[in-house]
Amino acid sequence: MRYFIGNWKMFGVPNSINILKKINSFYSKDKNRNKYRVIVTPPYTLIQAYSAYFKGKKITIGAQNCYQKDGFSSDTAAVSPYMIKSVGAEYTLVGHSDNRSEGETDFMLRNKVSLALKNNLTVVYCIGESKSEKKNKRTFSVLKRQLKKVLDKKIKKNKIIVAYEPVWSIGSGKIPTSDDLKKTTLYIKKILRGIFKGKSPAVLYGGSVNGENSALFKKIKEIDGFLIGGASKSSKKFIDIIKNYYR
Ligand code: PGA
Repeated sequence: MRYFIGNWKMFGVPNSINILKKINSFYSKDKNRNKYRVIVTPPYTLIQAYSAYFKGKKITIGAQNCYQKDGFSSDTAAVSPYMIKSVGAEYTLVGHSDNRSEGETDFMLRNKVSLALKNNLTVVYCIGESKSEKKNKRTFSVLKRQLKKVLDKKIKKNKIIVAYEPVWSIGSGKIPTSDDLKKTTLYIKKILRGIFKGKSPAVLYGGSVNGENSALFKKIKEIDGFLIGGASKSSKKFIDIIKNYYR
């Protein structure tokens, strides 16, 4: 199974659902539709309406993050995994570099992952090295730490997806070389097999994925799909990524 996950970030108002309606209509008729899933993570403000609309249809709705405490609390502006689940989300991203850079710690990320899973949300756990970490040849050690400090064998691995997003690639138009990406994906899967006793969860790539480069990634069989930012805000661009991947 492949995954095409659209991360809208700070984008969208109620009317923006029209973008997803177009993607859904392509997806419903696509001859390859049984080979992949489409998940979109709009901002919190739109989760309830979009989940209600797409219930029983092809697209699945998720959240972009969740708070590190569950239920209700007195933390202003926080949204718990329980609250996200209650409005119909089925997935949540955790550990996106935008949020890590605002101070998410491994401890917070562990709590987010375990509370999201407790609420039966599938977690898309994001990892990735920064530009300077790459330059200093620390990519593998950074990824290993991000995986091992947050995931452990007690977690239900079929409810975890890992998204590898090099920070220097997000929104920059730069992508890793095929060779590097293949090596890194294999390395991530090796660490994950170690954590989960033999079988790795799906590993996606994210960072400047578009309709022009999605076909290149197809050659790397180890990549189970994509986390797509910028290009997920346009139905045409998002559909092109899928079309060109399967062409
Ligand atoms: P991008 O973002 O596709 O715009 O590079 C990816 C992400 O941040 O998830």
